[in-house]
Amino acid sequence: MNVQLLIPAAGMGLRLGGAGPKALAPLEGTPLLVRTLQRFAGLRLVENAVIIVPANQRAQFNEALSAAFPGVAFILVDGGAERQQSVANGLDALLPTAEIVVIHDAARPFVSREAIQLSIAAAQSCGAATVAIPLIDTILVADEQGFLDSTPDRANLWACQTPQTFRIDAIRDAHAAAARAGYRATDDASLVRWHGGSVRIVNGSPANRKITTPEDLAYAAHLLRNNLVE
Ligand code: CTP
Ligand code: MG
Repeated sequence: MNVQLLIPAAGMGLRLGGAGPKALAPLEGTPLLVRTLQRFAGLRLVENAVIIVPANQRAQFNEALSAAFPGVAFILVDGGAERQQSVANGLDALLPTAEIVVIHDAARPFVSREAIQLSIAAAQSCGAATVAIPLIDTILVADEQGFLDSTPDRANLWACQTPQTFRIDAIRDAHAAAARAGYRATDDASLVRWHGGSVRIVNGSPANRKITTPEDLAYAAHLLRNNLVE
């Protein structure tokens, strides 16, 4: 099946701080977005990838992308105010030949090739898949007074990651229905589930964490410097 990559990179990176958009923040000298795309290059998913960028920063993104991937044709799309709108814009820009879409945050530069391949295979057989990892922490549910209400069984709890991978109709239909209903979710697999689809959970890895804060970026640099990531 024809697989196309969609990278949401239009966030402002408010929690990271810093001068420019988070996707262009340097990690050991290389912009996050470039490191993230390099993870897909060996799978031939970089050509024709749709990159969702902040509306007024196309030039900066074009420059970083053409320096790192000379001659590669990317499709740049303006993002929206929230990630869900950004992804919806990106879905509209996919090539007509796309049958499967792999959606992966620019802010997760250490995704493994294995996780990408597992998510594509699961989406081909089940229609939708998300990468996730078993929770390490015990989760507490609080009541409105700030007292412990309950402690869910950790065996059923997963921390969500990306890639999230879908047959094209499943994700487009879910986004269209959510837009009509005004429903919001922070990830695409949850939208598909809300719309009635089933979503296969496949194993990610702790290294595939999202770069959100300055501490995350410093930790990512530490992993690279000490050869602690593949
Ligand atoms: N994203 C996007 N469009 C938005 C918001 C987020 O494409 N309107 C993308 C980000 O670029 C990132 C991914 O979604 O790759 C996950 O979002 P997050 O980690 O929250 O990034 P930011 O929104 O940039 O960070 P913050 O919330 O701290 O501002
Ligand atoms: Mg955000």
